[in-house]
Amino acid sequence: MAGYREIYAAWKKDPEAFWAEAAREIDWIEAPRKIFDPSAGTYGHWFPDAVCNTCWNAVDRHVKGGRGEQNAIIYDSPVTQTKRTYTYDALLDEVSTLAAVLQGLGVSKGDRVIVYMPMIPEALFAMLACARIGAIHSVVFGGFAAKELATRIDDATPKLILTASCGIEPGRIVPYKPLLDQAIEMASSKPLSVVLLQRSQLAASMMAGRDHDWADVMAKTRSAGRKAECVPLKATDPLYILYTSGTTGVPKGVVRDNGGYMVALKWSMKALYGIDPGEVFWSASDVGWVVGHSYIVYGPLLHGATTIVYEGKPVGTPDAGAFWRVIEEHQARALFTAPTAFRAIKKEDPNAEFLKKHSTSSLRTLFLAGERADPDTVQWAEQILGVPVIDHWWQTETGWCIVGNPVGLGQLPVKHGSPTVPMPGYDVQIVDEAANPIPDGKMGSIVIKLPLPPGCLPTLWQNDGRMVESYLSEFPGYYKTADAGFKDEDGYLYIMGRTDDIINVAGHRLSTGGMEEVLASHKDVAECAVIGIKDALKGEQPCGFVVLKSGVTRSPLDIEKELVGLVRDKIGPVAAFKIAITVARLPKTRSGKILRGTMKKIADHDEWSVPATIDDPAILDEIGDALKAKGV
Ligand code: COA
Ligand code: AMP
Repeated sequence: MAGYREIYAAWKKDPEAFWAEAAREIDWIEAPRKIFDPSAGTYGHWFPDAVCNTCWNAVDRHVKGGRGEQNAIIYDSPVTQTKRTYTYDALLDEVSTLAAVLQGLGVSKGDRVIVYMPMIPEALFAMLACARIGAIHSVVFGGFAAKELATRIDDATPKLILTASCGIEPGRIVPYKPLLDQAIEMASSKPLSVVLLQRSQLAASMMAGRDHDWADVMAKTRSAGRKAECVPLKATDPLYILYTSGTTGVPKGVVRDNGGYMVALKWSMKALYGIDPGEVFWSASDVGWVVGHSYIVYGPLLHGATTIVYEGKPVGTPDAGAFWRVIEEHQARALFTAPTAFRAIKKEDPNAEFLKKHSTSSLRTLFLAGERADPDTVQWAEQILGVPVIDHWWQTETGWCIVGNPVGLGQLPVKHGSPTVPMPGYDVQIVDEAANPIPDGKMGSIVIKLPLPPGCLPTLWQNDGRMVESYLSEFPGYYKTADAGFKDEDGYLYIMGRTDDIINVAGHRLSTGGMEEVLASHKDVAECAVIGIKDALKGEQPCGFVVLKSGVTRSPLDIEKELVGLVRDKIGPVAAFKIAITVARLPKTRSGKILRGTMKKIADHDEWSVPATIDDPAILDEIGDALKAKGV
């Protein structure tokens, strides 16, 4: 392969030729004759006339091509003391049988199926079975509460839900079924069926008529000899919907198509990650996140690689050597995780003593994404592992990397603090509020010139209007990333933070607006503001300020405890909302806007000045005192 600069220039010169060439790596039912249609959808569609099936490319194709006996999935679960492998042959059997189960329950092309499952191979079978028959899956992360699940059920209106009896967090079993039953109860759209995998750790109760036992329906379908074939789909048909935090409590349903996604992911496996078919790729994320969709499931499998499904944590399952053990035991060539995982390991084992017990010689590269990779963590990882540590920047919306360091094309020099350079397909620019370019070295809004490349969201689920309003209208001709940063003289990008109210907690994307909605729903709360404050382990953690209604005489401490419980209950433990602080008033501008930015600087002990537009400067001192009193 040619080097990055050549490849990027070739893409820029003729984007359609570039993607037409990349599309040759896919098995099409009808190959694309037209590469891009700028008149379709909100900004155009890739491969508008092609026909394909993603499950075929991720599974059947490899069996047909002689990889049937190679491991497709390695399941390693320290929380259940289980290890299991599935060859591509076995994967095909599981997926085609489960797809037949779905068909038997009335699911067909275009129907939505929610997948609410822990990190077990069956979650991958579920996704691939949907892909096989053209059903649109929507995976919901296990750390969300019933209300979040209900919101997704109402937006996606699934015909069927695939789930398991429980997830396992260190030291605690998370019963999924009560959450699911509650969510279905709350939702106005009711699924016709639920297929539930009973795990040995916890048995779930079943509702007659609606709920089906996974093992039972699989066994029956097997003994009847029923398997589902791959259904031909338009490249532009949706493969999945993945909900992500927006600026309000209503999440955005990011839609992913089949054809463009396959082309982009397949290209990325070699060019960006430097992986060859047959090698082991480990993404230590969760299938509930975009990283899980793209690089636990689809990317590695489309490439004929072996993927690791890890049901555990970087620390505590059982110790800070867990990652090194998994790399050694399964001979992983690349590890992809969030910087917070390495901060957690470093905190527990600063001298990397656990690493001495393992050989990580199989590892060629560590990839980090999901949040800003702080130079200290990158340096530490480089030192202990002795391999390149590659930060790369992307979003749920894009589905794959925007800015990275393509090691497969020849690694570019690493500059700590920068995820390096735009991938082909992305013309990344830094602009001011009026969409004018900003000189190198100066901070601005990061935008991507339209069209977005294959793999990126074509729209939000049944909501072109919100797609345009959220991403395409503010900077005409560009996609708004809602990240801010700058470019240096070598064209390296630096991603410094969000321009909206989204925060990043342990690599998880959360909406402070959503948390404010929950706090405001408490009967004693008059107004509130949630900000993300610095956290040494998780990058950021949410911190909520509340003003109580006049006449409330209950203890503020009790109310604060209730508020912490309320966010856990309504959004889920993943929100990691632990700090609620009662204050007499919130600092505002004269026009009534809450000064969240200044509050954040005070909480982070950064330098701050009194904004000229402030209504009453004394309130800022009150905020500082309240934080101090809470030990923040
Ligand atoms: N189901 C149910 N609960 C879950 C969950 C799941 N799938 N995942 C997390 N939670 C819970 C945790 O148990 C925790 O609950 P607690 O408040 O009772 O302790 C809470 O949600 C917050 O979880 P988390 O943010 O993961 O914090 P942690 O303290 O448990 O672990 C790290 C900290 C750094 C070890 C952990 O965040 C981690 O491994 N991060 C990697 C980041 C990552 O994979 N990001 C994905 C994008 S690449
Ligand atoms: P998500 O959609 O959950 O993947 O989160 C996307 C957001 O995470 C981005 O908009 C960034 O704010 C942040 N992010 C992801 N990767 C990086 C990175 N490598 N560097 C800085 N920020 C990142």
